[in-house]
Amino acid sequence: MAREVIVKLGGSVITDKSQPFSYRSDVVSALSEEIASSDQRAVLVHGGGSFGHTLAKQHGLSSEPAVSEAGAVSRTRAAMYELNSMLCKTMMDNRLFPYPFSPFDAVARAERGAVASWLRGLVKNGLTPVTFGDVTLAQPGPRILSGDVIMLELARILAPERCVFAVDVDGVYQTGTRVIIPELSPSRARKMRLPSGPDATGGMKLKLEVAAKIASLGPKVCFVSGYRRNEFAKALKGQEFYGTLVRA
Ligand code: IPE
Repeated sequence: MAREVIVKLGGSVITDKSQPFSYRSDVVSALSEEIASSDQRAVLVHGGGSFGHTLAKQHGLSSEPAVSEAGAVSRTRAAMYELNSMLCKTMMDNRLFPYPFSPFDAVARAERGAVASWLRGLVKNGLTPVTFGDVTLAQPGPRILSGDVIMLELARILAPERCVFAVDVDGVYQTGTRVIIPELSPSRARKMRLPSGPDATGGMKLKLEVAAKIASLGPKVCFVSGYRRNEFAKALKGQEFYGTLVRA
């Protein structure tokens, strides 16, 4: 049986980062249609974009644990659940049957095999498991668990065929240029010099660190524009696409 494809829908793709709380239903519709018609066994992760990151920034939450009020955690999580609910609704309007789950149902579980069977069972029943970046507790306080880190954990759990990151750029650019690098080895991906970006989590830098780790485990990793549905569809199906492929 074909293995799964794990897809991260970046927060900057599914929302408009220049406007707080602006969901892009047209983009999610297009990507959902491509997933539905691809016949791939997809597991989805989505980011926070102008929902989670807006609140996280307001409350000083980031991937580094920091002392913070309980209200900051609740409000940031509420924004993520709201975004998740809108995304699931759009998926359902486009022939997908989402099964939203908390990332904590999967990450940091000792029993990876049990999580893998559970997720595969959902997929086998025609459902698309969907999870998202969230807020977790650490010392000395809460921190953001990025969807990128969840991608790595899911890749360890499922050993997927490939992982696709739908991002708001065409792929990974050669430093200081707009020239796309078509293919990167994990070691070259690790060495790329990139800014960590304005968000509460790690931007493209974190994505490449995660991609290098995933590719070293075996699955190929694709970076493709979430605004180019045809290229996204090709990446999803394992065909040649315009973007960046990270593979060992
Ligand atoms: C962020 O998740 C989640 C919260 C802010 C709670 P990501 O770090 O995966 O989000 P994007 O894709 O960068 O927006």
